[in-house]
Amino acid sequence: MSTVHVVALGGSLLRPEEAADRSMWMGQFRQLVVHLEGNGRKIAFVVGGGLPAREGIELAKDTVRDPRRLDQIGIAGTRLNATVLQQVLLEIGCDVAPNVPHTVDEARQALESHHVVVMGGTVPGHTTDTVAVRLAAALHARHCIIATNVSHVYSKDPRKHEDAEALTELTLAELAEITGIGEPLEPGASAVVDPVAVQVATDSGMSLAVLDGRDLSRLDRALDGELFEGTLIKA
Ligand code: UTP
Repeated sequence: MSTVHVVALGGSLLRPEEAADRSMWMGQFRQLVVHLEGNGRKIAFVVGGGLPAREGIELAKDTVRDPRRLDQIGIAGTRLNATVLQQVLLEIGCDVAPNVPHTVDEARQALESHHVVVMGGTVPGHTTDTVAVRLAAALHARHCIIATNVSHVYSKDPRKHEDAEALTELTLAELAEITGIGEPLEPGASAVVDPVAVQVATDSGMSLAVLDGRDLSRLDRALDGELFEGTLIKA
């Protein structure tokens, strides 16, 4: 069986502030996928909702009280972003599953007949990090890569603490002390790793790699099993 990779791709990565950076990122993303497919690798991207998810949740927040309903809006945002990347890859002839899977099991099946699967969220109660970790466990992937817009997991929130330390290696138990474990975030709230995903990774013994997906060369190195700039979280 060929090597399988699962990458959670933060929704903010699709929309760098500068227009020039947007087309550069998209170009590098396409190149990365073409290269992986050419090497016979299989890869699933679980795409976050970023701006459309947050905007949609914001629009409804004052009148919709049930967090699960707000989560459904967030999920629609993730699926929009997933569809953008899926169509971009189909356009250049990549072997991408023609549907955006709704469940981890659908994604696992789609990877049996395609090199690439792009999906978003599934059900309320967690973020796409959790979907990615579940899919990585179902596929027996070596680790689950979380490509986000920060360089590392920090010892504490670097926006609030000047002495926050960038960590290069830690255990899932140590990560749980930083992020919390098991407790769902509010709809649309963000954290370096979703605490529900930390729980699933702990339960399934799945190692994580957290890295800055704005620089896709870091993702490339992690996919190749090389030393990468970011944080390795060992099961
Ligand atoms: P994201 O996965 O995009 O959250 O889900 P995130 O970790 O903040 O990621 P990015 O980097 O900003 O993109 C957005 C929202 O969608 C709902 C939740 O409300 C979440 O906060 N969601 C997403 C679910 O309820 N279930 C899912 O499987 C995925």
